[in-house]
Order: sequence, then structure tokens, then C-alpha cells
Amino acid sequence: MEPVRHFNSKGRNKMANIVVVGTQWGDEGKGKVVDLLTAKCDLVVRFQGGNNAGHTLVVEGKQFIFHIIPSGILYQHKKCLVGNGVVVDPDTLLEEIRGLNDAGIEVSPDRLSLSERAHIIMPYHMALDLARERVKGSGKIGTTGRGIGPCYEDKVARTGIRAIDLTEPDTLEEKLRTNLKEKNFLLTEFFGAEAIEVEPVLEKYLKMGEELKPYITDISIEIDDAINSGKQVLFEGAQGTHLDIDHGTYPFVTSSNPVSGSACTGAGIGPTRLDKVIGIVKAYTTRVGEGPFLTELNDKVGNYIQEKGREFGATTGRKRRCGWLDFVVIKDSVRLNGLTGLAITKLDILAGIEKLKVCVGYDCDGEMIKQRPTSLKRLALCKPVYREMEGWNEDISGVRKLEDLPLNARRYLETIEMTTGVPLSIVSVGPGREESIIIEGMS
Ligand code: GDP
Ligand code: IMO
Ligand code: MG
Repeated sequence: MEPVRHFNSKGRNKMANIVVVGTQWGDEGKGKVVDLLTAKCDLVVRFQGGNNAGHTLVVEGKQFIFHIIPSGILYQHKKCLVGNGVVVDPDTLLEEIRGLNDAGIEVSPDRLSLSERAHIIMPYHMALDLARERVKGSGKIGTTGRGIGPCYEDKVARTGIRAIDLTEPDTLEEKLRTNLKEKNFLLTEFFGAEAIEVEPVLEKYLKMGEELKPYITDISIEIDDAINSGKQVLFEGAQGTHLDIDHGTYPFVTSSNPVSGSACTGAGIGPTRLDKVIGIVKAYTTRVGEGPFLTELNDKVGNYIQEKGREFGATTGRKRRCGWLDFVVIKDSVRLNGLTGLAITKLDILAGIEKLKVCVGYDCDGEMIKQRPTSLKRLALCKPVYREMEGWNEDISGVRKLEDLPLNARRYLETIEMTTGVPLSIVSVGPGREESIIIEGMS
């Protein structure tokens, strides 16, 4: 007998589902690009990280910084989802919801969902994060102090508290009591910090659970239904590829996977649902916190970029370290994320620098290498090998077409495209939504 053939109309004439990721050490301008791309999408999903992220959007001259809520929220008719891969500080989430409502942007469960499976950042996670950094002293990671690492630790240790638990008082109380026994021992006996009491935490988190309950749902099903009905989904990464727990400059990394593959596990979809991956490349490099940064500039060019680019952390306000564009870093990201397009941001900031440099490889103790060594000891022996390029002086923030850019700015972009082998999709020349060059052929 002939086997029954299942014809499946799902996916026919389907639009592209796009993942947006940072290719460096975060703060590449993901918020701005996600806001821009949301115009073509129906749903926007955050899939990893937590309120260590700070994503900035500037729309009609007004600045918004989001830490948890996806950067698509300013569009009235688009749905935003916070995935199971995100670690959520409910205080911050509620504050963001209130802030938006106060600004006249209505946020209701019709517009925002939180995965039942997302892990909740508890006060002991923040206390442990800070205590660990204090004990490490000069060897610290330079975390954001938001409890991100300790929350992911508990997820993997299978002792975490999930969003769904906030809606079940008995479950929350039991987990909290058990966890605090161990955490308080660590906090007081090992770190010499204050103990945390069960009751006030329980009361506060149950109250926040009540407020968040209408938003808590199974977002994997919501995304699947949306894709099946022909809707287009945008997946918003946080942090950057070189902060990835597996692929970054370990241990100077965050505790999640900012690479594109994590959109699948962090949102509850399969890899066949993804069509495009856009990597955001800042036209130079920045890094907040500690860790190797070979092209860092501790000179007046570095200061010029830091000041002109207003390179201060959107979450902690710390000064960002600045340096030249590093193709070793970017090409790693092309491979690790399977990039199909690039969005270049902050090209406007490089105007006024006479000679630009881009790093094309590392001299590792006399040997020319094109990949970052895994060993930090070996990496410390490496020196960047630069190619020098002519700069430009013109203010390019008003430019909207590639051909209207100064010749040397175009050469800089061409070098990025040629070296990475990935086509440019967007060039950003200012923080505003409209300060963008959209390149033909983009989805
Ligand atoms: P994210 O974490 O990747 O979303 O980036 P952040 O919001 O932390 O940092 C990027 C900063 O650069 C924000 O202040 C943006 O408003 C700003 N920005 C983004 N694109 C551009 C651009 O093309 N030019 C300029 N001058 N600023 C930009
Ligand atoms: P967005 O999404 C830049 C950095 C911290 C620190 C390291 C570990 O805005 O690009 P963590 O608190 O995550 O344990 O800190 O990671 N870091 C970021 N740097 N942008 C971010 O997010 C970051 N999120 C974490 O500075 O070096
Ligand atoms: Mg940021």
C-alpha cells in the first residue's frame, strides 16, 4: 500500500523570520536595528540574557532604554515576547511596563507575553553576584551586578524559580525556603555578607507574580501559531557573540549564549523556522567590564571615539572601552552565527579621524594568526596586525543612500563586506530611527 503523504501548506509564501545578534562585546546598536526591522515583522522575541542588557532606541527625538522588554514595543500593533531563555528580574520588568504606560504607550497582555519557563532573578542572585565580584578583587569579571550569572547557575543546577512558580504560592514558598538555606550559608559564612529573610521576599515576589500573571504564557506555542499563520518573527539577541558563555573570551563573558542558535532554545522553536541572521557590527569596537580587548585604544583617538560616540553603558553608566574594528572578532561571529547580512552602526562617529585602522589578524609570538586563540595565556601574547585606511571629515548623519557617502566611508564599508563575505543590509549613521541607510535586497 502507498504510504499516506502529508501535504503541508504551512510555510508556503512564508515571510522571513530574522535573528538579530551582536557580533562584538555588546552595545553594537541592536535596539536601534530591531526597532527599525520591527516595521516589517509581527512579533519580536527576546531569547536570552536579562537586565544586564540595555537597548537604546531614539524615536522622534525621544530616547527609550529597554532592559527586558523587546525593542519592538514602540509599534502599537506588534506583539513582544520574553522567551524562556531570558532571566527576568520582575521588578525591572514591571518598572518597564509602568514606564511605557506612563509615556502613553499602552502595554497589556495583548502586546506582551512572558514565558512560563523564564527563570526569575531573586535577591540572593544579585547578592551573590556582587559578593563574588568583591572577593575576586582585581580578577573580577566586571559584571553588571544584576544577578545574571547566579540565576543561570540555578537554572542549570535545577533549583531555579520560574515565572510560573510566581503564580503558585505553595511552590514559591517551598523553593524559596530550600534555596535560602543554601544561599544564606554561602552569603554569610563564605562571603561575610548579610543573610536574606524568607518572608519579605516571599511577600514581594507573590505580589509581583499577581501583577505579572496575565502576561505569563507558553510563548513557544504562540510563536509556532504565529509562524503557521504566515506571520513574521524577529528574534532579538542581547549582549554579543564574544560575551557568549561557550564561544566568548571565557571567563570574561556573560552566562548565556548570545549566538543566533540560542534563539531556538531560548524561544522554543526549531532551527528550520529561522531564515536570516543579521549581525550588528559597530564601526569600531567597544567593551564594558574586564577581559581581553586587543584593539583597545588608550590614547586620544580612543578618547575621541568614547566621547563622540557617548560610549557609556546603557545599564550601568560605566565608560565603555573603545578601539579599532577587529576582523578576527567579526569573522568569528560570521561563522558562529551563520550571518546572512550585516548592519553597520555608528559609522558617523568615525568622521574626523584622519587615519583609520582595522585589525586583519594577530601576531602571536611571531606567528600570523586569523583566529582568536582559546587560551587567554596565548591570547595575551598576541598583538593586532593593522591595515591603515584613509578617513573622512564630512558629517554623514544626513546621508540616506550609500552613493552619497564620502568615498573613504564607502571604502571602509566595502572592506567590511569583502573581508567578511557577508552583504550589508543596513548602515546606521545616527541614533534616530530615520538615520539609516537601508540597502536594496534586504528582506
Ligand atoms: P545595544 O545594547 O546593542 O542595543 O546598544 P546600546 O543601546 O547599549 O548602545 C548603542 C548606543 O549607540 C545607543 O546610545 C544608541 O542610541 C546609539 N546608536 C545606535 N546606532 C547609532 C549610530 O549609527 N550612530 C550614533 N551616533 N549612535 C548610534
Ligand atoms: P547589551 O544587550 C555590553 C558584560 C558585562 C561584563 C560581562 C558579564 O546591551 O549589548 P553579566 O552581568 O552579564 O554577568 O556581566 O558581560 N555585559 C554587557 N556588555 N552590553 C551588554 O548587553 C552586556 N551584558 C553584559 O559588562 O563584562
Ligand atoms: Mg547595550
